[in-house]
Amino acid sequence: MKAGVGFFSALTLFLLMGAVFTQRDRPKKPTRRPGTTKRPFFPRPSGPAQPEPKEPTDFPPVILGPPSMFPDCPKECLCSPSYPNSLNCENRNIRTIPVIPLRTHYLYLQNNYISEVTAEPFLNATEVRWVNLANNRIHRIDKQVFEKVPALLYLYAQRNQLKEVPAGLPTSLEQLRLGKNRISKIPSGAFSKMGNLTLLDLYHNQLSDNDLGQNTFKDLKSLMQLNLAHNALKKMPAGVPHGLIQLFLDKNNIDDVPKDYFKAFTHLAFVRLNRNQLSDKGLPKNVFNVTTLLDLQLSHNQLASVPHFSSHLEHLHLDHNSIESINGTQICPYSIDAVMSDHNLVPSLRYLRLDGNHLSPPIPLDVIMCFRHLHSIVI
Ligand SMILES: *[C@@H]1O[C@H](CO)[C@@H](O)[C@H](O)[C@H]1NC(C)=O
Ligand SMILES: *[C@@H]1O[C@H](CO)[C@@H](O)[C@H](O)[C@H]1NC(C)=O
Ligand SMILES: *[C@@H]1O[C@H](CO)[C@@H](O)[C@H](O)[C@H]1NC(C)=O
Ligand SMILES: *[C@@H]1O[C@H](CO)[C@@H](O)[C@H](O)[C@H]1NC(C)=O
Repeated sequence: MKAGVGFFSALTLFLLMGAVFTQRDRPKKPTRRPGTTKRPFFPRPSGPAQPEPKEPTDFPPVILGPPSMFPDCPKECLCSPSYPNSLNCENRNIRTIPVIPLRTHYLYLQNNYISEVTAEPFLNATEVRWVNLANNRIHRIDKQVFEKVPALLYLYAQRNQLKEVPAGLPTSLEQLRLGKNRISKIPSGAFSKMGNLTLLDLYHNQLSDNDLGQNTFKDLKSLMQLNLAHNALKKMPAGVPHGLIQLFLDKNNIDDVPKDYFKAFTHLAFVRLNRNQLSDKGLPKNVFNVTTLLDLQLSHNQLASVPHFSSHLEHLHLDHNSIESINGTQICPYSIDAVMSDHNLVPSLRYLRLDGNHLSPPIPLDVIMCFRHLHSIVI
């Protein structure tokens, strides 16, 4: 056992008993509710103490922007001379979108009380590239709004009250964020001809299997990131573009994965299926044995055994399942003898989470012998 003892001491192994790691979600941008900004307040000149007409509303008053050198600067926005192409109207209690000047490329309207997006303010805004409408109360985006905005690249409308994916979005779009709405409908053709879209985020909506047809994502030839987490899916989505790199499906009700589901993907590296209903029965033996996969997350399911994975996988999350034992000889992508004698065959797995199962230390010797690059294991 000399060789064994040798590499044992070389191995940095952290055994973290019951450690709790929070999920590594995308860092959230701090969002502030409007009304808390400490910007200087420039009241508009008004006549002698005329009481404002009372509106039946709980919205705080609009916060006006500073005086601007641009005559076309909407009064509730900030138009910085250093960034003539940016229009900053975020955090200002705005209810109605002001008229957007022609020079605007970057439009910031997040954190307001806007309830609908109509075409008029955008009639001259033909050069807009980014629009941020996040965290408003938008329930409707008119079909004509972006018709005359042929260069639109990013549309962020997460955290609103949309019930369906807006129609008539331009084919130039590269990023579309619609997370945290109430979307339960994707009109047919909603994503058609969007051949440049790389990111589609539909996280935290109300989509079910029937809302996703075989052709829903068909035209998204450049799609790299698809987030359908936190919806009401029972099946893996069909017709997902095969160039995808990242597929997030956490917090649905998916209970099985078809045998060859991942076969045709050419670059798939990150798959998250945390918090679904997966059990061993629903997972064909080799379904996750995909050479491009680097990060596989299957936490909070009902798995009783460790699925097979490829020697390239680097991160595996299997915490909070029903795993009772782990056999290194069985899950090692090669025979342990082969891995011991040929360093090139050592699997890439570096991080393994197994806490919240029915396992207790020590970690079996054959796991350590096979996965020699493992430097963090949580059990
Ligand atoms: C659009 O631009 C033209 C020319 O700059 C201007 O005359 C017109 O008032 C603008 N329309 C709106 C709705 O701002
Ligand atoms: C898609 O991107 C390419 C390369 O940047 C560009 O030439 C093309 O015009 C874009 N397509 C659309 C519809 O904007
Ligand atoms: C995983 O797939 C590879 C080929 O990609 C194959 O050689 C290997 O036997 C598979 N692993 C298992 C456990 O079946
Ligand atoms: C692990 O699996 C191998 C091969 O299936 C078997 O020979 C071995 O006895 C198992 N080890 C344990 C501890 O069950």
